[in-house]
Amino acid sequence: MLESGRYILGEEVAGFEHEFGAYIGQRHGIGVASGTDALVLGLKALDLPPDSYVATVSHTAVATVAAIELAGLKPLLLDIERDTMTLDPKALARALEKPPGKISAVIPVHLYGQAADLGAILPLAAKHGLKLIEDCAQCHGASLGGKRLGSFGDLSCFSFYPTKNLGAFGDGGAVLAGDPGLAARLTALREYGWHARYVSERPGMNSRLDELQAAVLRVKLADLDASNARRASIADRYDRGLKDTGLVLPARRKAATHVFHQYVVRTAKRTASRPVIVKLSPNVTSIAQMAYVAQEAGADAISLVNTFVAMAIDAETRRPRIATVAARAPGASRPQGTPRRLPLAGLERSAPPPLAR
Ligand SMILES: Cc1ncc(COP(=O)(O)O)c(C=O)c1O
Repeated sequence: MLESGRYILGEEVAGFEHEFGAYIGQRHGIGVASGTDALVLGLKALDLPPDSYVATVSHTAVATVAAIELAGLKPLLLDIERDTMTLDPKALARALEKPPGKISAVIPVHLYGQAADLGAILPLAAKHGLKLIEDCAQCHGASLGGKRLGSFGDLSCFSFYPTKNLGAFGDGGAVLAGDPGLAARLTALREYGWHARYVSERPGMNSRLDELQAAVLRVKLADLDASNARRASIADRYDRGLKDTGLVLPARRKAATHVFHQYVVRTAKRTASRPVIVKLSPNVTSIAQMAYVAQEAGADAISLVNTFVAMAIDAETRRPRIATVAARAPGASRPQGTPRRLPLAGLERSAPPPLAR
C-alpha cells in the first residue's frame, strides 16, 4: 500500500467500503475520518429541517450529542431501559406525543455492544416520519433477529477508533446507507461537496478514511467474528465470577447477539465493589459517558449516574488482534504473537504480495 503512493481514497478504502457494507448487509459504504464525522455527515446528508430535534439517549458517548449540535440540529435527550441501557421506546413514544418542536430523526445507540429495541423503535419512527440513524460505534458484528446492526436504519454510523471491536491503528469511521442518492450525497460531503473532481455542489468538508487505516481494517474485518466470540467467552467468565456479588450484571436482549464492546455492571457501592471486580479484570476502568445525563435527563437516569463500572474486555483481546494484523500484512516475517508494528522493512524488497483475506 505504501509503495502505491496513493494514501487517500484509493483501492484499500474502496475495497473496505465494499467488504464492510457486504458484511453488515448494507448496499453502500462511505469511509470517513471518525465516528463523530460519520454522525455529522450522516445528519447533514439527510437534509433535516434546520433547528429540528434529533431524539437520542442521554446515556451515550458525548460524541452522539455533539454530532447533532455540530450538524445544526437540537438534541432531545431521552431515557434508557434500565436493563439493556439502550433507548427506551416508551420514552420516545412519550416525546412524540408531546414534542417540544419538530422531531425529525432518532438516533438509537447500540451501546456496549448490543441492540437498542429496534423492534419497537422502527415502527414509531415510520409512523411519525422520523429518519433513523443507528449509532453503531460500539456494536460491530452484533445482530438482532439474525440481521446485523447497521442494516436497519436509513443510515448507520461506525467508529473505528482503536479500542472499538473493529478498530483501526488510528482514527476512522464509516457511514452505511441503502439509498444510492444518500450515498452519493455522503461521498460528496466527505470531500468538499465535490460531485465531480474540483466541482463543489454543496458545502462539504474534508473527512476521509486513509488507505493505511482501510488496509488494516480489511485484515481485521476477516477476524472480527472470532474476536467477538472471544469477547463473549470473556463476558461469560465475568458472569460466572460475579454472579453472587450483588452487582447488576449486563442483560442480554432476546434474539440478539451481544458483542461486548464493554462489560458494564451496575452497583450503588462502586468503591466497595472494586476489589471483587479488579480480581477478575485487572484492567477495570470506570466510565465517563454520563456528561449530559445529570444536566438534562429525567430522574431515572440521574439515579443511575455513578453506578456504572466498565470492565476492559478490549485490553484482554488487544494483543492477539495486533499480532493478527502484523502477521497477515504484506512482507510480515516476525513470528505470530510477538510483533508490535507492521513490518515496514518489507518495502525495500520487491513489491509485497496482496493482503491475505
Ligand atoms: C456511542 C459512540 N458514538 C460515537 C462515537 C464517536 O466515535 P469517534 O471517537 O470515532 O469519533 C463513539 C466513540 O467513542 C461512541 O462510543
